[in-house]
Amino acid sequence: MRRPVGIFDSGVGGTSIWKEIRKKLPFEDTVYLADSKNAPYGTKPESEILRLSIKNTELLLAQGCKLIVVACNTATTNAITHLRENYDVPFIGIEPAIKPAALHTKTKKVGVLATKGTLASSLFGNTSKLHAEGITVMEQEGSGLVELIEAGKAQSEETETLLKTYLEPMLAANMDSLVLGCTHYPYLIPSLKKILPLEIQIIDSGEAVARQTEAILKQYNLLATSTVEKGKSIFYSNTGTDVLQSFVKDYKALVEYLDF
Ligand code: DGL
Repeated sequence: MRRPVGIFDSGVGGTSIWKEIRKKLPFEDTVYLADSKNAPYGTKPESEILRLSIKNTELLLAQGCKLIVVACNTATTNAITHLRENYDVPFIGIEPAIKPAALHTKTKKVGVLATKGTLASSLFGNTSKLHAEGITVMEQEGSGLVELIEAGKAQSEETETLLKTYLEPMLAANMDSLVLGCTHYPYLIPSLKKILPLEIQIIDSGEAVARQTEAILKQYNLLATSTVEKGKSIFYSNTGTDVLQSFVKDYKALVEYLDF
């Protein structure tokens, strides 16, 4: 039986992860949930992030998903332990890529741009402690950025101005690596490149998530068996379809409204 890979995020950001998965696993069917009605997750209490993650998971399971990618740092760091303990499919999560940044930095100063919910989580705190010994990790909440991206304003003056206020203190403190700790933020890369000096490395975890998805599908013997036609991709949004559609316009994908 053909079963899809399920992916969810608080909104359109996780499409950055979906694109990496699509590149690596083109024959997989996918179902994507953009919970834009409840975005941002990053300012919500842990209990609410957990409740929303459970709601998304159950909807994806009702669609027959064989594996779930939590394409949201905030939901991963606040809910994935609970999801893994309570549901019977493999879960892939995403966390800020502190380890590669710690390996790369020469100045020993790493910046992390993420949501309040991610930065406050104990999972993030533990990862940071584990991989960043001897390194200064500068944490910056990206307040307002998810809202701008959800409004289709990733490339706008407003976004650039806000980004500058977040980046300037980290640049002044000699950061040479910037970790994008939110799946919405890869859509800010064109703006980030305008602001950051060339030598600053921008690090995100999208490709690593796709690699891990492939490895786990293989391990559980769940890879798509047909390699003739590309997999079908369906995207659901619980607000409107326009913004979500604009993020996946280069793909043959179905984008629909669903009340969830
Ligand atoms: N894409 C989510 C993340 O990776 C955004 C969180 C939010 O909605 O605040 O954290």
